[in-house]
Amino acid sequence: MNKDLRYIETPFYYYDTALLQATLDAIRCEIAQYPDYHVHYALKANANPNLLTLIQQAGLGADCVSGGEIETAIRAGFASEQIVYAGVGKSDKEIILGLRNEILCFNVESVPELQVINELARSENKIANVCFRINPDIKAHTHKHIRTGLAENKFGIAWSEMIEVVNMANTMSNIHFKGLHFHIGSQITNMDDFRGLCLRINELQDQLEQNGMRAEMINVGGGLGIDYDQPQVHAIPDFHAYFQTYAQYLQLRPGQRLHFELGRSVVGQCGTLITRVLYVKQGLDRQFAIVDAGMTDLLRPALYHAQHRIENISSVAKTYEPYDVVGPICESSDVFGENVQLPTTQRNDMIAIHSVGAYGETMASCYNCRQLPRSYTDKEIGTSSSVE
Ligand code: LLP
Repeated sequence: MNKDLRYIETPFYYYDTALLQATLDAIRCEIAQYPDYHVHYALKANANPNLLTLIQQAGLGADCVSGGEIETAIRAGFASEQIVYAGVGKSDKEIILGLRNEILCFNVESVPELQVINELARSENKIANVCFRINPDIKAHTHKHIRTGLAENKFGIAWSEMIEVVNMANTMSNIHFKGLHFHIGSQITNMDDFRGLCLRINELQDQLEQNGMRAEMINVGGGLGIDYDQPQVHAIPDFHAYFQTYAQYLQLRPGQRLHFELGRSVVGQCGTLITRVLYVKQGLDRQFAIVDAGMTDLLRPALYHAQHRIENISSVAKTYEPYDVVGPICESSDVFGENVQLPTTQRNDMIAIHSVGAYGETMASCYNCRQLPRSYTDKEIGTSSSVE
């Protein structure tokens, strides 16, 4: 471990930009063989400006879910015509922001939203490009809180209503129908789920054509998962298998463009949360390592029972003991890991919580009047090997 780390106030996010760059290179290398494929980075995963700059420079577009994300993307240098904008509840102000910036398209999730976009576009004297987010009614094999493609979920328009809605859009003066959008969930590692989505899209495209309609673009959302158990073994997700699944099963029509909205798979492995042990406390039947990071800094374990690899990066002890690694917040769910085997741990030891580059810093809060966590890159505080 880099000794200087000890003198940095904890907790903080550490970003390995060398790994991020290698991940971006892997994406670029894979999609080079598919000229019709375009990857947008889902800012919701991590909007840290240092990371956004690298992602923008690698040529990715942006996937936004709020006006704030559109502004952040533009500030980071993403071109408006590479921005797609999704969300079940877009406000008028956010829609106007998208219209004025002439973004690539609005991913529309309901008829009332379509009507509002048409009216606002008319008052702004613009034509809004829209894709319809279709709910494909496909169950992805992932945690129920991050599964989005089932009929019971709030997202998208029922696929049985697609033709009616596209017909409606074609009668609206300030709407241009561009294509279809999907997103079945996040942290998906089984390629069969994406294959199922492709087969559903093929059916829907047949239906469109039978009704004399055509999509210019298909957007399949994101969802590719990462390896939380062995991040060091699979530091870069299997983009080859992912894109190949689409190439093999999705029947793109001539001239049609295929868009992706990847978040977690781009940034997930490049982030580590560094925290310090405040106290080691002996419970009745377990011992607690109480650290200075809490669910306010990293919410995933409390919200989804997510398990991140936890490591003591400062102890030189040869003996291992089980610890419940917990934060200081007044909530029983403020637990990062139960029964975690760590070398004998003591006050001031430094703990690394791995694979937190996605949905870590972006989901942090100020609950308990805490400060938002700071963040540093390898360029600022040392090489990536120093925290491994
Ligand atoms: N596109 C849409 C429409 C989405 O809703 C999402 C994620 C993405 C793209 C990016 O998905 P990804 O490639 O990152 O899987 N906070 C949760 C994850 C929520 C995902 C929300 N939507 C977590 O910490 O696991």
